[in-house]
Amino acid sequence: MTIKTINTTPYTDQKPGTSGLRKRVPVFQQANYVENFVQSIFDSLEGFAGKTLVIGGDGRFFNDVAIQKAIRIAAANGFGKVMVGQGGILSTPAASNVIRKYKAFGGLVLSASHNPGGPEGDFGIKYNVGNGGPAPEKITDAVFARTKVIDSYKTLDTADIDLGTIGTQTVGDMTVEVIDPVKDYAALMEELFDFEAIRALFASGFRMTFDAMHAVTGPYAHTIIEDMLGAPKGTVINGTPSPSFNDGHPDPNLVYCKDMYDLLMTEDGPDFGAASDGDGDRNLIIGKNRFVTPSDSLALLAANAHLAPGYKDGIAGIARSMPTSAAADRVAEKLGIEMHETPTGWKFFGNLLDAGRVTICGEESAGTGSNHVREKDGLWAVLLWLNILAVRKQGVDAIVREHWASYGRNYYTRHDYEEVDSAIANALMTDLRGRLPALAGQVLEGLEVAYADDFTYHDPVDGSTSSMQGVRIGFADGSRIVLRLSGTGTVGATLRVYLERYEPTDGQHDLDTQHALAPLIGIAESLAGIKARTGRTEPSVIT
Ligand code: G6P
Ligand code: ZN
Repeated sequence: MTIKTINTTPYTDQKPGTSGLRKRVPVFQQANYVENFVQSIFDSLEGFAGKTLVIGGDGRFFNDVAIQKAIRIAAANGFGKVMVGQGGILSTPAASNVIRKYKAFGGLVLSASHNPGGPEGDFGIKYNVGNGGPAPEKITDAVFARTKVIDSYKTLDTADIDLGTIGTQTVGDMTVEVIDPVKDYAALMEELFDFEAIRALFASGFRMTFDAMHAVTGPYAHTIIEDMLGAPKGTVINGTPSPSFNDGHPDPNLVYCKDMYDLLMTEDGPDFGAASDGDGDRNLIIGKNRFVTPSDSLALLAANAHLAPGYKDGIAGIARSMPTSAAADRVAEKLGIEMHETPTGWKFFGNLLDAGRVTICGEESAGTGSNHVREKDGLWAVLLWLNILAVRKQGVDAIVREHWASYGRNYYTRHDYEEVDSAIANALMTDLRGRLPALAGQVLEGLEVAYADDFTYHDPVDGSTSSMQGVRIGFADGSRIVLRLSGTGTVGATLRVYLERYEPTDGQHDLDTQHALAPLIGIAESLAGIKARTGRTEPSVIT
């Protein structure tokens, strides 16, 4: 097995986005595309000689090919050891846990999250640092700079490495340890949650459906929910990972999980429904006759976390992304703990978690998690919900209603306008920004504007500043409109309009959400002129 240096030419489009490098599979299949990117990552890091690298992915099409390349390049570059999930599988939160638990130097997570897979689908490569979280911008910027000038990469001349058998082997001078992808993660969940109480809940006849969407959480959910917690076989559906996600779209929302939603809205349906995405970091929570919005779920989990053993001493603080509703803020206020509002993107929570300033974080985009890893964690959210249901011995709907009765309800919706011409979308945002200074104090549709700004985040831990993170228009009654352009879209621009209205504890908690937010929808339209500018009569997606 010899180390070879192979000449290559740079690609110009290897700029990591919000969550690593994500492209269509045929893009990754170009000659040396993976090799260039992986070598550029290693070229941007220092001090990893002899150290451990964790590699795993969500099992999507091309996972197996990319993993073999990554292992060879890691060996040729001097890593001492690679820990890789059996069959190349590790959910994103499980990879984060393995990096932390075994004090690895970092990790490569191979996934395109909730995007479809298959030969024409998406693939992705993300580098995570030693705290288990996504690499900060200073690393991803260095990687991008390197990809533009790279002229060679190092690889090991060796046959494919067997990833099917758990155990240790030697590849060149490097050790490759194939690990059980589920074991360490399941052990962590058992530490955090009251498995005995959840077992008793299932034993009492409580029924649940967990949709793994043919994606990575299948093996985790089968082991934890069915084998360890005793839920009947069949509780986990679509639990065998498929490289194309069975030609589905592994995004756990009310569009792609509509069948489950419909089931939960019937009397004979299960008591609880949940799902996770392609790589296992997002979650969907539905109770009987009650869909829980991600923003409400964050608030509810924070308010009840002390019922789980892992959080029994209380939580240090909560963080949410700026467009996420302020429901969690009311919980933090009541608990007398820190509350942080960060830009969109999980990476902004890392510093707060590392510094012990917050324990629980969440985003409106269906991500919730805690300080147990440095990624959002779909199954974690599901298990914390189960723990709360088991201890409170109430259904989801009753718990949600009690929450609104003691904190008030933040009605919330997001309207997305997808594939808008980028120039039009940018002009819309620029013009809107220009109008902000004159808005404070004005009364629109009977609502007084309390503030209007473009969100700037000052990281309280490292002092860094991130500006232009989205337009916020806040009203005196606690209502809010947020507009921003998505950082994850692949075609044109996606305009996201987030709308929120607060109803106090004794207010109306049973309105239809779109109806309750109609006045704010009207204000957003009249301020931004979305219809006139984009030619769209309605949003592409409403969540
Ligand atoms: C990814 C990130 C999240 C983010 C979401 C939406 O899932 O991991 O942190 O909230 O994308 O981002 P976008 O820029 O498209 O609104
Ligand atoms: Zn994901």
